[in-house]
Amino acid sequence: MTRSERYTGTAMALHWLVALLVIGNLVLVWTIGSLPGPMVRPAIDTHKSIGITVLGLVLLRVLWRLSHPPPPLPPAYPRRERLLAHGAHLLLYALILALPLSGWIHDSAFKDASAHPLRLFGLVPWPRIAPIMALDPVRKEAVHAFWFRVHGLLAYGLYVLLALHLLGVLKHHLLDRDPVLHRMLPRRRGPRRATVAGQER
Ligand code: HEM
Repeated sequence: MTRSERYTGTAMALHWLVALLVIGNLVLVWTIGSLPGPMVRPAIDTHKSIGITVLGLVLLRVLWRLSHPPPPLPPAYPRRERLLAHGAHLLLYALILALPLSGWIHDSAFKDASAHPLRLFGLVPWPRIAPIMALDPVRKEAVHAFWFRVHGLLAYGLYVLLALHLLGVLKHHLLDRDPVLHRMLPRRRGPRRATVAGQER
């Protein structure tokens, strides 16, 4: 596979980092209900920190993608599959942006926000959204509840889309045996080439 048929190293790094952080954040939030009391607050804070990091990385990814168009899909792909792949990728970008944004809005309406300032990984102070913090308590509670619902619904959308994305990649890799997965993997070093009398051919 040539260089122009693969994603750039930066695009690959951002893809795998975002994938790891999003899946890690989902797993973290699923476990919160079963954690002992004193661990719940730190776990929620870590969830927020990972989510804000994802927001920053996805914005970088979008900028990178706009300035470095991805390699074209193999020409043998039927039009229907191209449309499906592009549609799913666009929706995935929308969801991984909307999820952290909705979480941030929800958290900005947290009634005890002043007692729990946002600090990324306990280190970097991070602002909440001022106009939401300034709402009166009744409206703030309504915003808090509404955006939590949105946050949860977006996560369901993400589960569906992630499953479709994985199934699509597996179909191409295992059934069609085309190089779609390798476009997003670093180039493997091939076996050493045969030599004649110690000299590489
Ligand atoms: C990668 C990005 C994110 C993903 C995939 C994600 C996913 C989720 C999911 C699936 C839930 C459970 C929803 C439910 O029970 O209905 C949740 C809860 C929550 N999320 Fe996020 N989230 C992300 C980013 C954020 C961000 C950036 C914030 C805030 C700054 C945030 C704040 C919260 C809070 C406060 C909860 C409630 C936790 C609890 O009380 O148990 N999330 N998130």
